[in-house]
Amino acid sequence: MEPRDEIRGEEVRKAFGAHTVLDGVSLAVPPGSIVAIVGGSGSGKTVLLNILTGLLPLDSGRVLVTDHSDPAAPLVDLAALGEDARDRVRLHWAVVFQHNALHSGTVRDNIALWLHEHTDLDDAAIEARVRESLQAVALDVDDVIDKDREELSGGMAKRVAVARALAIDPIDIFYDEPTTGLDPVYAGHVHELIWNVHHRAREDDKPRTTLLVTHDRELLRRLHPRVVMLADARVCFDGPYDDFTRSPLPEAREYLTAMPALHLREAR
Ligand SMILES: Nc1ncnc2c1ncn2[C@@H]1O[C@H](COP(=O)(O)OP(=O)(O)O)[C@@H](O)[C@H]1O
Ligand SMILES: [Mg+2]
Repeated sequence: MEPRDEIRGEEVRKAFGAHTVLDGVSLAVPPGSIVAIVGGSGSGKTVLLNILTGLLPLDSGRVLVTDHSDPAAPLVDLAALGEDARDRVRLHWAVVFQHNALHSGTVRDNIALWLHEHTDLDDAAIEARVRESLQAVALDVDDVIDKDREELSGGMAKRVAVARALAIDPIDIFYDEPTTGLDPVYAGHVHELIWNVHHRAREDDKPRTTLLVTHDRELLRRLHPRVVMLADARVCFDGPYDDFTRSPLPEAREYLTAMPALHLREAR
């Protein structure tokens, strides 16, 4: 039997008024894979990610996802699920937003909140999980755990956002521009972090699936993901990283040449 996709977008269309952002975009994310959505600024990467995670409704097409609470279930249509079923599917997901989306409060509060709301862990077990997650992203636990959101540098806030995702022990992890705005050294740490999180064993040994949106050519080089490139509201390339770097496609050539500059521009 062919392994089924972890997530699949089929002919996704999305317009804002007269502006068609996605005009029939399909992509398949196999379980255990790393898939990077790339494309110029404004090409619809974030919109696509938000549709795939159910944060944004689509105009037509479908998003099918794996419901890990029911291993026998086929892929389920995200939009057709009731609220409870959707929450259940999302229990196995974590999203690292471009601007981290940390809540006001301390680092501990940020990581513990989800665990309090969605697990049966007691306070001591939650504290242990919080500390373990901070350690996993190479932060000095005692130094940061009581810090307020406002006291964190950009690089630290990104790590806390990844630690918060990691505490969930998600099967699927989503990142939107995880290195934009970070200096190159910190960006390098985040490259390693994304790689390590992807390969970190889960308690049940299920493989993790990583879907990210990025401008960062170094990150692509580090991860060797499957690359899905958006241009003119469609997928113009879908294939392994090595094929992407060798692709004669003008959009790919232009992007590979322009990407470092785009990245720097956004970082300012
Ligand atoms: N909520 C919205 N309302 C109107 N237009 C939007 C909205 N969200 C995104 N867009 C437009 O959709 C296009 C793609 O946006 P986005 O997915 O954020 O681009 P990027 O590839 O840079 O992540 C842009 O032209 C943006 O202005
Ligand atoms: Mg974006």
